[in-house]
Amino acid sequence: MEELVSLCKRRGFIFPASEIYGGLNGFWDYGPLGTELKNNLRDAWWHDMVHCPPMGPDGEQLSIVGIDSSIIQNPKVWEASGHVGGFNDPMVDCRETKSRYRLDHLHYIHHDSCERMYAFEISSSNDSYERACKLMAKYLKLESLPEDINCDNGFQIGCVEDLAPDYIFEDLVGPDAKEPGTLTEPRQFSLMFDTTVGATGGDDNKAYLRPETAQGIFLNFMNVVDTMRVKVPFGIAQIGKAFRNEVTPRNFIFRSREFEQMEIEWFCHEEEAQQWYEFWCDYRKKWWQKMGLTTDNLQMRQHDSNELAHYAKEGCGTFDIEYKFPFTDPGYGELEGVAHRGNFDLSRHGEFSGKKVNYFDQQKNERYVPHVIEPSAGLSRGTLALLCEAYTPDDRPSKVFMKFNPRIAPIKAAVFPLVNKNGMPEVAMKLHEDMRKKHVVQYDAKQSIGKRYARMDEAGTPYCFVIDGDTLEDNTLTVRDRDTASQERINIDQAASYLDDKLSR
Ligand code: GAP
Repeated sequence: MEELVSLCKRRGFIFPASEIYGGLNGFWDYGPLGTELKNNLRDAWWHDMVHCPPMGPDGEQLSIVGIDSSIIQNPKVWEASGHVGGFNDPMVDCRETKSRYRLDHLHYIHHDSCERMYAFEISSSNDSYERACKLMAKYLKLESLPEDINCDNGFQIGCVEDLAPDYIFEDLVGPDAKEPGTLTEPRQFSLMFDTTVGATGGDDNKAYLRPETAQGIFLNFMNVVDTMRVKVPFGIAQIGKAFRNEVTPRNFIFRSREFEQMEIEWFCHEEEAQQWYEFWCDYRKKWWQKMGLTTDNLQMRQHDSNELAHYAKEGCGTFDIEYKFPFTDPGYGELEGVAHRGNFDLSRHGEFSGKKVNYFDQQKNERYVPHVIEPSAGLSRGTLALLCEAYTPDDRPSKVFMKFNPRIAPIKAAVFPLVNKNGMPEVAMKLHEDMRKKHVVQYDAKQSIGKRYARMDEAGTPYCFVIDGDTLEDNTLTVRDRDTASQERINIDQAASYLDDKLSR
């Protein structure tokens, strides 16, 4: 992870926000390459979900329309949605180290013969778990703990949340602490960012930055039904910023306080909801695979009943599409949630606003509040997964290359003159001018050809076109493939269609 974060900074993918002032925990800026990468992922999602949505289980193409709603809404929205008052994380502080932890992220390791328990953080790197194992081994006067920890050899691993308070306060050693008993009682921590609207200030003018884009969709359900001639089942999609005052922002852009989401609310009849739920779980996993995340690094996981969000429909629940990030390995971290929200949100907005929020099916002569299946993906987290997946150590001079799927690669191709003289730059610049009309293509004439390849490898550019002495004689150039570093010669007139063809696969 450290190597990836350093490459991201060195090559202009992602920088800490307000870096020259020491940064601000949980906030990040995207540099030129990171912005292109994130925009490509965003555009692929919008294209595949809104402009060219998939076929549904009935063989009909889905109908999904897009919106772009306001980040700040009437504060009553968040009372109706359950976020004000309900969107909290329990947290504990460590008196010894002054660190703060989300209670639901703390696990402990325990042995029958030992009154101490050692806590570790599951959302953090493996170091936390390894440290707990080392301390436990030291306490038990063992060289190391057995690899397979289970109740047969007297060990247990469990959630700190499930421990009785006495154990937490007396016997538990915090993840970074030396002695037991330094963790405080859990406190609820609101994740909502608030602000004031207008010049007068005060509590009456308090408003919130949205913690999810979803509510903007529910608020516009009736507007879309009334203006777009849509028929249930249909979806509304939105991409945009969301803000959460996370207790423990960490792991680069994985958990930040400002991030982007790509959400669809799929409105359907209650009787068809289960079928749509299964469809979306399956389709969304395949979509991430199409973006280049390999099968081994992706998994589906059903939420346990104690993890369900306040809106999740009882008995149905949520599937997470999870990715094996370097800091979760060998475990997985959430990339997207597919939730069955029932008709919770539409009903609550109807109730709280006193306005009609429902749907009339003319064919069946039936009025009802549609049920909702919600595939909710993180655009920022998705960008991180693509960066992790692309990072490929190699023995080439750059020692690493970014193996992005060409569809989402920030730069699609580079054009180089072999040397910056003898008529080569003019030919290369002309090719660059032609190609950049359609794709993001860079021209580079500085330094040795090896260094230029290395720069493009780190940026994840799939193809480099090189104009050399032979080009001036026979109109051919060299194309170099990022993944294999192999080269082939093609006619310069075919270069544009060669690139089109490779990018359309
Ligand atoms: N509307 C449902 C909803 O917001 P969620 O599971 O809380 O559900 C959906 O969030 C997705 O948003 C997550 O799967 C994750 O990819 C992303 N996400 C949530 N909190 C995040 C954070 N603090 N930083 C980055 N991404 C986050």
